[in-house]
Amino acid sequence: MFSWNSLLRPFFVLAPMEDVTDTVFRRIVASCARPDVFVTEFVNTDGMFSEGKDIVSQRLKFSEEERPLIAQVWGIHPQSYFLASKRIVELGFDGIDINMGCPQKHVVHSGACAALIKNHSLTSEIIDATRRGMIEAGRQIPFSIKTRIGYNTIATEEWIGFLLSFKPDALTVHGRTAKEMSKVPAHWDEIGKAVKLRDKISPETVIIGNGDIKSREDGLQKAKEYGVDGIMIGRAIFENPWVFEKEQKEHSLSEHFGLLTKHVELFNSTWQGKKPFQVMKKYFKIYVRGFDGAAEFREKLMACESADEVQKILNSKF
Ligand SMILES: Cc1cc2nc3c(=O)[nH]c(=O)nc-3n(C[C@H](O)[C@H](O)[C@H](O)COP(=O)(O)O)c2cc1C
Repeated sequence: MFSWNSLLRPFFVLAPMEDVTDTVFRRIVASCARPDVFVTEFVNTDGMFSEGKDIVSQRLKFSEEERPLIAQVWGIHPQSYFLASKRIVELGFDGIDINMGCPQKHVVHSGACAALIKNHSLTSEIIDATRRGMIEAGRQIPFSIKTRIGYNTIATEEWIGFLLSFKPDALTVHGRTAKEMSKVPAHWDEIGKAVKLRDKISPETVIIGNGDIKSREDGLQKAKEYGVDGIMIGRAIFENPWVFEKEQKEHSLSEHFGLLTKHVELFNSTWQGKKPFQVMKKYFKIYVRGFDGAAEFREKLMACESADEVQKILNSKF
């Protein structure tokens, strides 16, 4: 069984990113260079049991290549967390993570995610319900939380200290407040503070630092400087799909195009009839960049309506 504590330090995690890190993209990243842990996009706990559950459950689709894989959930109703956690155990995920950090307006207006930073009583009910769900399912899987360092102002001691009192197996600290969105550099000194709080309050909890990590090397350096057990990388994957590679190499244009071909094929075989081809287009920039005429070439690809059309254009380049 997966355990956060058994990972060699420092370990690397691919950040959950809505509409990006689906099963297809996680498999593409795994084929380049694996992080130690993958996380799903956030999944709404009410949505999992609603009329739209078929669409919502696309976010829970996975293959064995993506293990260890953590399911991330969000919501406001403890009872839904209870049911969702039970289901996540039954589906065979390696862990469950609660999103307490997303600052998007529609989400915080409902009282969920980063809004929980201002609502300790609901937070504790949600954690309790999630744990009861696992007990009901008859199997405990690692429980973790991903959060920020405060809502309007930095409140690391109060908020992170409060979360650590529940002794989660892992805690990902994104070094910004909700109000800061992604507009200021991540406060890594506050992430370092979270490590010290962990040492006092819950020594068994694994701390994962997150925010602005540009490369594996940058991650190794931050882990050393701030004492975190693991590093989570999000947007840097858009610049380099091989970001988790231990020995960084230059990757040629033909490797990038080969990866795009593989992504389009996997997208098609996984999502045809379920997600519009339009969704695939946001990934083009990852693969088609850094050469003269890249923008024009991307424009041609953006006009495509199918995997075959993309393939024809890619073939014409070589
Ligand atoms: C497009 C996008 C979607 C995101 N979706 C999620 C999500 O579903 N769950 C979550 O916890 N964080 C989400 N995040 C936040 C990232 O996981 C991460 O915390 C943030 O991007 C900072 O890390 P980075 O600087 O390495 O990108 C998202 C970020 C982006 C850019």
